[in-house]
Amino acid sequence: MNKKIRKILKKKNKSKIICLTSYSKNIAAILDNHCDLVLVGDSLGSVLYNYKSTREVTLETMINHSKSVRQGVKKALMVVDMPHNTYRSPKEALKNAKLVMKKTYCDAVKLEGGKKIIPMVRILIKNKIPVMGHLGILPQTEKKFTFKGKRFDERKKILNEAKLLDDAGVFSIVLECIETKLSKKITNQIKAPTIGIGSSSNCDGQVLVIDDLIGLSQTKFKFVKKYTNVTKIINKAVNKFKLEVKKKQFPKKKHSFNI
Ligand code: KIV
Repeated sequence: MNKKIRKILKKKNKSKIICLTSYSKNIAAILDNHCDLVLVGDSLGSVLYNYKSTREVTLETMINHSKSVRQGVKKALMVVDMPHNTYRSPKEALKNAKLVMKKTYCDAVKLEGGKKIIPMVRILIKNKIPVMGHLGILPQTEKKFTFKGKRFDERKKILNEAKLLDDAGVFSIVLECIETKLSKKITNQIKAPTIGIGSSSNCDGQVLVIDDLIGLSQTKFKFVKKYTNVTKIINKAVNKFKLEVKKKQFPKKKHSFNI
């Protein structure tokens, strides 16, 4: 088993797993110093490309961004989201996941879903491709983006699906917007560490979209905490540049080539 994955597994019930998304090299290099896991999420569809849903994200786009991220991630475990319609059968999943692994040198892939995707998860793991699961809100197929676990039957289904993924051998599961008590129950009843987003501190780790955390995106999700306002910082710097160029204060002699 990959050493980095073993390290993640060992953290269960010991210390929290830190995970953030990245779509490019420079941000990835910063995150690499802090994160156990860096995820090239297909959230890049809405965050970078303004797509209405992650369904529009292609395998080629994921591969290109992942190649960039790979240049920045040296220590953390790098996971790449398999986009919508790239794992509809075991054969398709294996072909596409192999391509992702080969082209990006990532450590693992993430697939959304429960019972339906078990055959795909199993074939990838059998072929030594580590898999991260994703339950709760499933952006690739979701119709209603409200938190999961309100009703008894829904809670039962999600818990059962977490157990199925766990038995299939996933090394962790993202729990997206799952009710607090249910996320605790899942975390306590499976071997794989759970990584929460909008699923309370009961999870074994937490993940956020980096653009949300640093205030680069304008989203206002309940589960996001903005730790800084990079938009403000960039605005200030760019405005200063503009004024200095206009006043001929930039570039100075030291920024120019003189003989
Ligand atoms: O696509 C993504 O960024 C994700 C995380 C939010 C978990 O799946």
